[in-house]
Order: sequence, then C-alpha cells, then structure tokens
Amino acid sequence: MGEVNSITEKKTRDAAVREIAARTGVRAEEGRRFAELTSLRVGGRIDWLFLPETEEEAAVVAGELGAKGVAWRVLGAGSNVLADDADHHYVLLSMREVKGAASFDAEHVSVSAGYSLPRLCVDVARRGLSGIEGLGGIPGTVGGALWMSAGAYGHEIGQVVETVRVARGGQVIVVPGTEIKWDYRHTSFREGELLLGATLVLRHDDPEKIKERMEEAKQKRFATQPHGARSAGCFFKNPPGSNLSTGKMIDEMGMKGEKRGGAVVSPVHANFIVTEGENARAEDALALAEEIRERFRREHGIELEYEVELWGSGVKEKGEG
Ligand code: EPU
Repeated sequence: MGEVNSITEKKTRDAAVREIAARTGVRAEEGRRFAELTSLRVGGRIDWLFLPETEEEAAVVAGELGAKGVAWRVLGAGSNVLADDADHHYVLLSMREVKGAASFDAEHVSVSAGYSLPRLCVDVARRGLSGIEGLGGIPGTVGGALWMSAGAYGHEIGQVVETVRVARGGQVIVVPGTEIKWDYRHTSFREGELLLGATLVLRHDDPEKIKERMEEAKQKRFATQPHGARSAGCFFKNPPGSNLSTGKMIDEMGMKGEKRGGAVVSPVHANFIVTEGENARAEDALALAEEIRERFRREHGIELEYEVELWGSGVKEKGEG
C-alpha cells in the first residue's frame, strides 16, 4: 500500500492501523503534529503515531506495518529533524517511550533506543565507565545518536558500540558494531530498519575524572551553543575532509541574528537555526537555511550539506534530504 493517495487507500490503511493497535495493545494516536514532537517545534500533522513502550512492542508493530505495506518511519526525541508544515501521510513510530532501565554487566551496558543519551552518560559516569562523556549534553535518544552517528568533543557513539538490535523485515537482528559504517553524522542504517537498542562496551576509569571531562564538555557546549532555545543542533555539516567550521564561516559572513519569519540564525552559534514565537513555521527555517546555502555557495564555492534531517510529507530514503 505504501503512501496513501486516495480515500479508499486511506480507509484501508486506517483500518490496518487500528487493527494492529487493538491486537498488540500498543497506543496509536491520530492527528498529532510534528510541532509537538520535535525540538524545533514546527511541522505539520501526522496521520498516525504509534507509541510502543518496549523493544518487543516496537519490533512487532514495525513488522506488522511492513507486512501490511503501510508506510512508516521512526522518530526518537525529534531533536535532529525539520519536518515540513504539510500533512504527513504516513505512520510515525515514536521510540521515546522505549526507555526501560539500562542494564550493566562489567564494562558493558545494554540500553533501549528511547533512552535519553544525556541520562545514559550520567549513569555510566557514576559507575566509573568512560567513552561517551563528550556526548553528555546532546539532547537526544540513544537510538537517534546511533542512527546519525552522534559525536562531540572527541567522542563518537560508533566507537563504543558492541552490537545494535535492529528490527528489519519482521525480524530482530543483532548487528555487530563493526559491521556498521560509522561516518561523520551518517551511518549505513537505512529507512525501514528500526533501531531497538544497543550494547555499548566502555572502559573503567576513575568516576571523578570522567565527571570532570563530562563537566568540561558541558561547559564548552554551554559557552558556545544556544541552550533552552528551540533548535535541532547544528543545521549543516562541516565541509567534509577539511578543518573548516561551517558555524565560524556563517558567523564571518555576518549572518548571526538573520531572520525569516519565526526562524533566526542563533546569535550564539551561527550553525544553529532557532525558532521563536507561536507562529514559527518549518518553511521559515527552510527559507533561512536555503539563504545561508546560497550565500555560502556564492562566497565560498561550497555546497553545504544538511546535518538535520529534512522530512517531507512522504516517506523518503535516508540521504534523499
Ligand atoms: N565559531 C565562531 N562562530 C560561531 C560558531 C563557531 O567563530 O558562530 C568558531 C568557534 O569559536 C571555534 C570554531 O568556530 O573556534 C569551531 O566551533 P565549535 O567548536 O562550536 O565546532 P563546530 O565545528 O562548529 C562541531 C559539531 C557540533 C559539536 C562541536 C563540538 C558539526 C556540524 N558540529 O561544531 O555538533 O557539538 O563540534 O564537538 O559537526 C551537532 O552535531 O548538532 C553539533 C552541534
């Protein structure tokens, strides 16, 4: 069935969704908005939102949707997504409630995809486990961090992944971290694969030292990036294969504070677009982003790549933008 293009298809799809929700006992809600579900607080209506609470539930729902040909995609904390203002005619599988307690075994920790990344960083630091303290203040889920290969202050999530539990084509597969491609803010995971959770392998170290390093990273982030603002982190990637900072270059182009409707280039870090006010729209953020890209192209001859995921109203392949 894929995306719904007619009233009949919509009716069939809606009946399939209701049937799956009733049979699995997983909550499904109609008509939620991306504006409530993403950190940029913009974006349109979603046909259906599934809210599983365990890895098993999430895997079953994904498998059933796949089997019935229903188009679906996955959202974590929504802190790296700009979803457009139009209606989104697909089913969203939210992983934010799949966040049962992390379980420890020596230097291994197993955690579900919806678990908060900052919370995990604190948990492991308390146990004297090192390897992710640089990721401390990144506002996202573990699943989101795995999906887009999060990194900061010398730490990359891919460096500590032992295995990832992935639901794929109705089956749960345990994928070794070494079989996954961990690129700069990009991985080999694909749309249609649901990351359920992971086991990380960390190193023992003095909890005080870990805390100190985590604090240091947090202070740096606090001093150089906006906090409390409605953002999706860095909007563009740094130009690959260079030591250039996109933020520094946008700053030098004099664009801090530049506005389009309810979207603003952050006065704190120029690679952050923040939204303001009740009437901010995704199209404001997009217009501002495209203006930055256009000037960047003109002044530096460089094509900026989006770091946030742009979600149109249909289901796209990863990397399609
Ligand atoms: N700078 C400016 N003006 C600005 C922004 C930065 O002059 O508006 C200067 C800084 O003073 C510094 C240099 O540019 O000298 C680099 O800035 P920063 O340390 O903030 O690093 P970045 O390259 O802009 C990257 C990641 C961040 C990550 C930090 C720290 C990307 C696109 N950004 O930023 O990741 O937190 O390093 O590791 O790779 C994200 O992924 O969403 C993100 C924010």
